[in-house]
Amino acid sequence: MMRVFAWIWLVCAAAVSVSAKRPNVLLFLADDLGIGDLGCYGNTTIKTPHIDRLASDGVRLTHHLAAAAMCTPSRAALLTARYPVRYGLEGGPAEDYLLPALLHITSQSGLSADEITIASALTAANYTTGLVGKWHLGMNCTLFGRSCPGPLNYGFQSFYGIPVTLFQEFRGLHAFWKFPLHDRRFQGLAVAWMTAMVSLFLARRRKVLGSCTGVLLLMATHLLLGGFWFTFAHYSKNSETRWGVSLWLFKYANSRLFRNDQVVEAPIELDGLSQRLVEESRRFLEAHARDEKPFFLMHSFGHVHTPMFSAPHMAGRSKHGSYGDNVEEMDDSVGKVLATLAELGLEDNTVVYFTSDQGGHLEAVEDTGERIGGHNGRFKGGKRQGGSEGGIRVPGIFRWPGHIPRGVTLDTPTSHMDLMPTLLSLAGLPRVHTLVPQAMDKELDGEDISELLLKGAKGSKTPRLFLHHCGTSLHAVRMDTGDHVYKMHLAKPKWWKGSTQCGWHHLALCDCHGPNVTDLSSQPELYDLLSDPYEDYPPISPDSSEYKSVVHDLKEYVRQWKERVTLPPSQLSTSANALWKPFYQPHCHTC
Ligand SMILES: *[C@@H]1O[C@H](CO)[C@@H](O)[C@H](O)[C@H]1NC(C)=O
Ligand SMILES: *[C@@H]1O[C@H](CO)[C@@H](O)[C@H](O)[C@H]1NC(C)=O
Repeated sequence: MMRVFAWIWLVCAAAVSVSAKRPNVLLFLADDLGIGDLGCYGNTTIKTPHIDRLASDGVRLTHHLAAAAMCTPSRAALLTARYPVRYGLEGGPAEDYLLPALLHITSQSGLSADEITIASALTAANYTTGLVGKWHLGMNCTLFGRSCPGPLNYGFQSFYGIPVTLFQEFRGLHAFWKFPLHDRRFQGLAVAWMTAMVSLFLARRRKVLGSCTGVLLLMATHLLLGGFWFTFAHYSKNSETRWGVSLWLFKYANSRLFRNDQVVEAPIELDGLSQRLVEESRRFLEAHARDEKPFFLMHSFGHVHTPMFSAPHMAGRSKHGSYGDNVEEMDDSVGKVLATLAELGLEDNTVVYFTSDQGGHLEAVEDTGERIGGHNGRFKGGKRQGGSEGGIRVPGIFRWPGHIPRGVTLDTPTSHMDLMPTLLSLAGLPRVHTLVPQAMDKELDGEDISELLLKGAKGSKTPRLFLHHCGTSLHAVRMDTGDHVYKMHLAKPKWWKGSTQCGWHHLALCDCHGPNVTDLSSQPELYDLLSDPYEDYPPISPDSSEYKSVVHDLKEYVRQWKERVTLPPSQLSTSANALWKPFYQPHCHTC
């Protein structure tokens, strides 16, 4: 009898302690995945059963927006609930040879130290936090790369994964020794070397030089010319790539996998990488399943960014070539992590979220001509087009059994930036400004959409506005009034004829600034996305009263916003971002 009582008491105590525990949070972030790449968003030929099931077990958002169409700014906004232009994490106009995202582990720019992320907010709320997979917001390496804390500086208590991003260049071997004699700089080097050798030889023969001085001069010449050779062949003056370092140096410097602040794998072994990330997430879940504290795990995929690679058992399975295989492998990973969650009995007390950092990269193509970029459904444009719908309309799925209703589809415009306020609210926590005193003066651009998720109702009736930057330039503004979703284009990239993309190469992207962009600010284009979701029809006539009043209001909103918010200079279009910094390069001590 006593044993039965004791048993009942134990069960009750356990139930109480479980119900008192705040929900865990599991966040999946795919890379460059198009909204049209998923079965639950209308793709009929690709197989994404696990993500589809996640959607049917929860809420599927159809008008979910990334705050930027590039990895670095979009991820920053997702984690901080603030537009990346507020802290200079968008590429500025001086982009001659630079890319609008962080490029190197040793880049000295990144997310500002005083920004508050979801991870730092949840750490303040006593969560155990971990990041598995891609970071791309700055590694903050100390001198000689002794420590590169990266995510650990922004609230993540553990990190295993990719410090910057995956690049096409990580695949394949790139030559270190090269001396292209068709290049004038190398011709100059060859002449300089021969001249130096002949002079040294003659000086030695005529006994102008002692043998000791001779050897020293010989060494000095080689050191000097070697330095020039390295600079021309690999660094800074290199014209092989857009970012000024050779393919060899790029891979050498950046293809590194981290555990916490140390390199544990160099170069990254792409085969089986997805599976290793899944294993790591499963270990995290197992380690913290029985903890008193709740956990926050962010599983940030290397997929489906270039280069395309899949484990042998996943390759060739899809109907869409190596890109399709990549999507299906990513879906498989989601399935494996969710299965572990279920096995550990954590499903009911875990909020799960799935999204992509931006739309598919339409221009991406393999050297063989095979398309390796995502599919953005009927939306126009893609990655790196901050104002085009295809670049920023992303999947958005929330699941929390017993709280968030099952199988609901919501068309209300929402943003990645809503994540932090929403998660805090779902977890019954105070606003970030209360939770983290340092956040006091930070204005959030995201909103708490927990009411919408829980009850399917839009909380406030006031119109909601969204700014869509491309780099630091404002390309579009959206306003959800409830009856209309207006979108005003202030600038548009010049697409290739008959397409909604700008080129055909894995490095090709549309520009945000300059001559390849059409400036529409004197007469913006206005669409109502409720009646014309894909912007297929001519925009609303500038002569209509609807156009005049809406454009007037939106321009006024922009004017006031610009007056109120002072923007720091871009951190991205500087040499601190673009150039490789040998003095910060981390090395692998255990590889
Ligand atoms: C499904 O996704 C693949 C891969 O991106 C794409 O090629 C295809 O056009 C999509 N199909 C549909 C029906 O959306
Ligand atoms: C976190 O833990 C500390 C110390 O136990 C406690 O004082 C604080 O209230 C907790 N914070 C939250 C948000 O639960």
